[in-house]
Amino acid sequence: MTDSVILVGFMGAGKSTVGRLVARRLGRCFVETDDMITAKEGRSIPEIFTERGEAHFRALEDEAIDLLALKGGDVIATGGGLPCREGRAEALRALGTVVWLRGAFDTLYARALAGGDRPMLAGRRRAEVQALYESRVPYYGRAHVIVETDGLGTDQVAARVCQALRHREREAS
Ligand code: S3P
Repeated sequence: MTDSVILVGFMGAGKSTVGRLVARRLGRCFVETDDMITAKEGRSIPEIFTERGEAHFRALEDEAIDLLALKGGDVIATGGGLPCREGRAEALRALGTVVWLRGAFDTLYARALAGGDRPMLAGRRRAEVQALYESRVPYYGRAHVIVETDGLGTDQVAARVCQALRHREREAS
């Protein structure tokens, strides 16, 4: 099966936008784990958190990972918390090349606050979100490739992801 490209990183890292651009550049399908979950549940992520709780959402993430294992070759944008549980990093690495879109916390936080309704930010002070970010860094760090996003536009980040993938392919051949 063709390897997938899996984008991981904190909320606000640009996984969805960059993922779409990378998919277009590579001529691959684009998949978002959050979309898989909302399609299955028939409700939004904030609704799932409010009505069923975070534990249920995390169980749905496990199901999404199992489904992703059935097909290959996609560009996959994961939710910010998806890789951050025991065994998940390994499950993602088994799907293909895992790319961490890394950025400074300040930038990610500002972007995450500005864009959309994010249940993990609701009721959390900045310092608590920063602690969450720091607790997740070791999980993101299990990616095959790290792409720095600070100071770059999404097109530039997508170009860097593709460059890193080409580099890995050359190394492997
Ligand atoms: C989450 C991030 C969200 C979404 C859910 C939980 C998290 O995705 O999966 O709200 O735990 O960080 P984005 O990273 O796309 O915001």
